[in-house]
Amino acid sequence: MTTQQPHWHLLGAGAIGCLYAGHLRSSGCDISLIMREGTSPASLPIITEHGGIRSEQHVPVVTPNSHAPISHLVITTKAYDVSEAVASIAHLLSEDSVVVLLVNGMGLAEQLAADWPHLNIFCGTTTEGAYCLAPQHIQHTGRGKTRIGKQGEKKPPPWFEQWSDAIDTCLWDSDIEAALWSKMAINCIINPLTALHNCANGELSQDPELITQVTTLCGEVCKITRAAGFTAIAAALPQLIAGVIAATANNRSSMLQDVENGRRTEIDYITGFLLQVADQHGIDAPHNRALLKSIKSHQC
Ligand code: PAF
Repeated sequence: MTTQQPHWHLLGAGAIGCLYAGHLRSSGCDISLIMREGTSPASLPIITEHGGIRSEQHVPVVTPNSHAPISHLVITTKAYDVSEAVASIAHLLSEDSVVVLLVNGMGLAEQLAADWPHLNIFCGTTTEGAYCLAPQHIQHTGRGKTRIGKQGEKKPPPWFEQWSDAIDTCLWDSDIEAALWSKMAINCIINPLTALHNCANGELSQDPELITQVTTLCGEVCKITRAAGFTAIAAALPQLIAGVIAATANNRSSMLQDVENGRRTEIDYITGFLLQVADQHGIDAPHNRALLKSIKSHQC
């Protein structure tokens, strides 16, 4: 007997969303993009450029007014858009809809679960690199790892096989909270500094003033990380940060790209979340607090 494969819907057709939609579609998964009301085509081409090779996948489009129920949803919107985007399609979700949240920052799964307690929420994080050349036309800049998991679940659900077949390195992570924390800790240091100093990630290990700032911020992040119970991550953080800076030396961080394009940043879900945890533990983190304030004063 063959089990029926789920139909996925994707909310948030930015660079990472298009990367997943293109990969899932090309491996034969049934997937539709949820686009704004008024989007007229019944399908859109997703164009992916990688290493000089261009591939194109036609993906069906639905809008929030459609009546198709959503059993499996991937969310790849900006962190601050998640609540409103889910609210716009909440009438299409059912009792046990699966939601895979692949969004930067932390705190969103808890917020979603509080607003829609019936959803079956999984979280993910990725080091895939991609940016938009035009709407639904992306440059895949670097292959990375995608980790998906759900707190307390050791084994992946049956649908995960589709993901591990479709996405180059997609792993089930039975300690996804640690993976999310580790990514947030890295983002707390690299993203606001590169956004404020308008520099590529590699500058953070070249410029003496920036090297000092990385060390100071890292000290605060380590303290909070330890207090939050992620002791192994706290111990490894300085080397982890140095490794990511070296591996992504030519990248312009996602926050720098947001600032350059006049978009709102995700700082509230990165440094903002870290500082909430610091407050819960009575930890002072003046350098991260100052950075949060500076980034917020740069955005409209
Ligand atoms: O947000 C980003 O840009 C990335 O997470 C990272 C790792 C900082 C690389 O640029």
